[in-house]
Amino acid sequence: MPTLTPLLLALADLTETEPRAEARATAAALRAAAASHDFGPEPPSLLDADIRVASGIPGAHTCATHLAEAQAFLPWQASPAASLQPATLAATKAVATLIAPEGPILAPDLRFGLFYQAPGVYYPLHAHEAAETYTILAGSADWQAAGRHFTLAPGDAIHHPPQLPHAMRAGPRGFLAMWRWSGDISFDSYRMLPDPDGTDP
Ligand SMILES: [Fe+2]
Repeated sequence: MPTLTPLLLALADLTETEPRAEARATAAALRAAAASHDFGPEPPSLLDADIRVASGIPGAHTCATHLAEAQAFLPWQASPAASLQPATLAATKAVATLIAPEGPILAPDLRFGLFYQAPGVYYPLHAHEAAETYTILAGSADWQAAGRHFTLAPGDAIHHPPQLPHAMRAGPRGFLAMWRWSGDISFDSYRMLPDPDGTDP
């Protein structure tokens, strides 16, 4: 059985609960890869221990349990947009991209992955052309989108239409999430925005 099968199938089930064609396409790509794509071992993330702790926060979604079991095979790294972000932010969060035009699961028009943000860390206002959905898997986050503030818990999802300014502060135990992009999925339009609550660009 390919290495990430239980995780990819669980992520596909959760992704498919989002009522959008792009979400269904992402779920289909995850299912196809679950049956065929073999992930090799990856060097541990600098935040490996923190990610493992976050996956065990009480109340975590089933996907977080599968994530912990697959941790040694997940390609965690700094965000693909890290060079555009404050340096302190890049060191306190991690992204494992699973679907992208560059792989590891190939798709020309989708991105999908996992996300970790350390306890209390603030990811200031930013925006991009891609449409985006985050779904919390473990922990909690105080979210800001379209000028509204709210708290997200495991199983909660938030959709950002293209160019919607958004920001998030990790809860006291940090958070794990899955995220997906569709539409214009290049990073050309990614930009940090002036943010009275955080670090200005
Ligand atoms: Fe975003």
